[in-house]
Amino acid sequence: MKIAKRVLGIQPSMTLAVSAKAKAMKAAGIDVVGFGAGEPDFKTPDHVCQAAVKAIRDGHHGYIVPSSGLADLKKAVAEYLKRRCGLAYEAAQVLIGCGGKHTLYEAFVATLEPGDEAVLPAPYWVSYPEMIRLAGARDVIIHAGADQGFKITPRQLASAVTPRTRVVVINSPSNPTGAVYTRAELAALADVIAGKDIWVFSDEIYNELVYDGIDTCSFAALRPELTAQTVTFGGASKSWAMTGWRIGWAAGPADLIKAMGNLQDQSTSNPTSISQYAAIAAVTGPQEPLAAMKAEFDRRRLYMFERLNAMPGVRCIRPQGAFYAFPDVSATYERVLGRAVQGPKSAAWSEKVLEQAKVAVVPGGAFGDDACVRLSFATSMQQIEKGLDRLEKFLNG
Ligand SMILES: Cc1ncc(COP(=O)(O)O)c(C=O)c1O
Repeated sequence: MKIAKRVLGIQPSMTLAVSAKAKAMKAAGIDVVGFGAGEPDFKTPDHVCQAAVKAIRDGHHGYIVPSSGLADLKKAVAEYLKRRCGLAYEAAQVLIGCGGKHTLYEAFVATLEPGDEAVLPAPYWVSYPEMIRLAGARDVIIHAGADQGFKITPRQLASAVTPRTRVVVINSPSNPTGAVYTRAELAALADVIAGKDIWVFSDEIYNELVYDGIDTCSFAALRPELTAQTVTFGGASKSWAMTGWRIGWAAGPADLIKAMGNLQDQSTSNPTSISQYAAIAAVTGPQEPLAAMKAEFDRRRLYMFERLNAMPGVRCIRPQGAFYAFPDVSATYERVLGRAVQGPKSAAWSEKVLEQAKVAVVPGGAFGDDACVRLSFATSMQQIEKGLDRLEKFLNG
């Protein structure tokens, strides 16, 4: 029987091969240190869990109408975006979706058509290219390597934009690199595209995890006129340790948000009612658990950054956001892999490190940069020390 081409074309996740192998090794009793996590290793704050329990007890078991989210949560998110990011969205300009991932998917589907182009800076989060292709459009990749801090320049952006460009993706803080664009850098990118018939998808899901006191801001907060062409994406997953609850949001011009809501009406219906009540508590309640989590991530980040740079052939720029380090390990490829390796080297390198050092990292090829690998510091300090000791020994051996 036939399977549609657009789905057959979805790339199998390169990250899955390593994580599946790491899982199998763990199941076989092998002590693997995992740096693959894309989620906080903290528990959802207690007051958030209590709000979910209350929602169950209060009988919030039915469909939510409209399916684009509870009015109280939309209002809470709009207020949060104003308070934290200086963004002036009305509740009607907010869509609550089943995770940030699904709101992004809806946005690509709602804006792109066959023949359109979406400009995507690399290294990129793994799902963007697939979402763009599923929407029938073409991804136009701009590569920004470690030498430019993994950030694209206005000149690169200008040369990637064509009359077919409908969307430009900006993800700051970035997964996988931890790079954060400063306010000035964002403003320079905005100068290239402001006023053009091009959407800016600003994925700010890691907005609460910015370190070093870096001066950054939400893209749409740079200048009032940018609000009309920007969609700001966020969610509960990373900031409040709520990855499994599946609550994300998009805020933008009301017509697009309504179109995405229609799509949601006919695809998922509402995100889980109980999770939405929990998310209200997360966004409006005490923020101390978030601050404690961030302080711990910061401590681990600095430790990991120092240790990686002390390893032979490893060069790591200091991540300034999220919970990932993205070191360039390409200077060790020949030593670790020999000369004959075909295909993506970061995948072969990661496999070897997993087999021999019992450390799981994610190959950078999955994010569009085969010189690097991604290590998450969303794991305990004890595991980080142990894993980095092993990696150091392996690279010194
Ligand atoms: C850059 C980026 N955007 C969006 C998401 C989506 O997160 P969620 O669907 O859990 O809200 C992730 C998750 O890993 C991410 O790293």
